[in-house]
Amino acid sequence: MGMKENRLDGLAIPKHVAFIMDGNGRWARAKGKKRTTGHREGSRTLKNICKVAYELGVEYVTVYAFSTENWKRSDEEVAFLMRLLRQYLKESVQEAEKNNMRIKVIGHIEGLPRDIQDKIELLEKVSIQYDGLKLQIALNYGGRDEIVRAIKKINHELETDVLQHSDINEDLVSRYLDTSGIPDPDLMIRTSGEVRLSNFLLWQLAYTEFYFTEKYWPDFDKNALEDAIIKYNETERRFGGLADET
Ligand code: FPP
Repeated sequence: MGMKENRLDGLAIPKHVAFIMDGNGRWARAKGKKRTTGHREGSRTLKNICKVAYELGVEYVTVYAFSTENWKRSDEEVAFLMRLLRQYLKESVQEAEKNNMRIKVIGHIEGLPRDIQDKIELLEKVSIQYDGLKLQIALNYGGRDEIVRAIKKINHELETDVLQHSDINEDLVSRYLDTSGIPDPDLMIRTSGEVRLSNFLLWQLAYTEFYFTEKYWPDFDKNALEDAIIKYNETERRFGGLADET
């Protein structure tokens, strides 16, 4: 009671929020720092947002950490991101326990360095026992690549008679994606002013509300997430149906 107000009182909290964490480089440049400093700050922001989101009642968070296109960046930047990732995956084993987090990596995992694959395997194995926030980290991820990999898996099941052509429908396709079993995002937030999808969760975002903010990812905080949730509550989700006229 007292001074503490809750800006989200009475509002619907999205069950699943997806983030395109954009603007680390621009955040760093604006401060006269190296791009890599921006990425390090961005990984801190990720840890904070996971805690904050869960406290607000969000159950699933999915973040775009490294795309299939990000390999085109300078060797130096790719090497730094891989180092940061190693550190993040290592620390996340303890972080998951502390915050009761279940972490899963989505994307073309076999295309990542072997030691990173091992760290992912360990982290997923350890954190499967936790039932707090479910965090999906997209690594070496591309939406089209994910769909192509799903088609190949389905094709293999057809050839080996595990599946019949008549089994193929939208639910089945969803189950062959990396996000199998995870509800589609209700809200997708992209920071840093860019208004595009950049090959993120192409299938899963079909009915998702989008929120774009000028803020750079390292500046994204609890207040910014609350702003997004307030805006989310101002829109009415119809899933292709008609507005309720009553
Ligand atoms: C976008 O900023 C960010 C990335 C390409 C990498 C995302 C990585 C993090 C937020 C931190 C690392 C996360 C983990 C899990 C280790 P940008 O470089 O495209 O920024 P710019 O558009 O301003 O140049």
